[in-house]
Amino acid sequence: MNNTIIKLENIIKIYQVGASEVHALKGVSLEVKEGDYLAIMGPSGSGKSTLMNIIGCLDKPTRGHYFLEGTDISTFSRNKLAEIRNKKIGFVFQNFNLLPRTSALENAELPLLYSDISPKLARQRALEALAQVGLKGREHHLTNQLSGGEMQRVAIARALVNRPSLILADEPTGNLDSKTEEEIMSVFKSLNREKGMTLILVTHDPDIGQAAPRRIYLRDGLIVKKEGF
Ligand SMILES: Nc1ncnc2c1ncn2[C@@H]1O[C@H](COP(=O)(O)OP(=O)(O)O)[C@@H](O)[C@H]1O
Ligand SMILES: [Mg+2]
Repeated sequence: MNNTIIKLENIIKIYQVGASEVHALKGVSLEVKEGDYLAIMGPSGSGKSTLMNIIGCLDKPTRGHYFLEGTDISTFSRNKLAEIRNKKIGFVFQNFNLLPRTSALENAELPLLYSDISPKLARQRALEALAQVGLKGREHHLTNQLSGGEMQRVAIARALVNRPSLILADEPTGNLDSKTEEEIMSVFKSLNREKGMTLILVTHDPDIGQAAPRRIYLRDGLIVKKEGF
């Protein structure tokens, strides 16, 4: 049996907007185990990003419990959450979020600048991560010399370099053409199958969602369907 990485118990998120409240999540419970590959699906406004932000320790639930590797972090301070986020979670975004005019290697190394890892080891780890996403030989190319698919590979390498417990990707192929989309989805698939990386991917695109063995569907802040569990 694989270990449980994430356990959400009845997560509620209410945004206060002036005098009114937006109930973005209305009681979400979910378990993610080591080596899982999960897609969070649902239409716009259903609560996908809100759930992602909570799982990624970027935001806190209003009520409910979030156990990350066994620790209830629902009541942790923002500083403590940031610390956990830097150690345990790798992020991949739709628009890559790379530094311009900076090499693939320097981009991939970036998260290690804030760690206590030596510069030499940081470089070695970044080179390994770039090789893992198929960018051997491209390490010294600058951001603007890379294709969209290559940029997203650099972003995935950057997410891997900390050796996180899980990777969260929010619409990671949203800015890519369909051929490049396939290429990036195959990078995710091999990270999951060959490296046992735990992946959570947010998408509104059913084809992308189908790539994940487990899927949950959100609607109006609730999970309305689970597949592959
Ligand atoms: N920071 C915020 N403040 C107020 N309302 C928000 C905020 N973020 C999201 N919402 C609202 O919460 C609901 C869920 O949004 P979101 O999680 O972004 O959905 P999705 O990612 O599925 O499109 C929507 O009604 C949205 O308008
Ligand atoms: Mg969203």
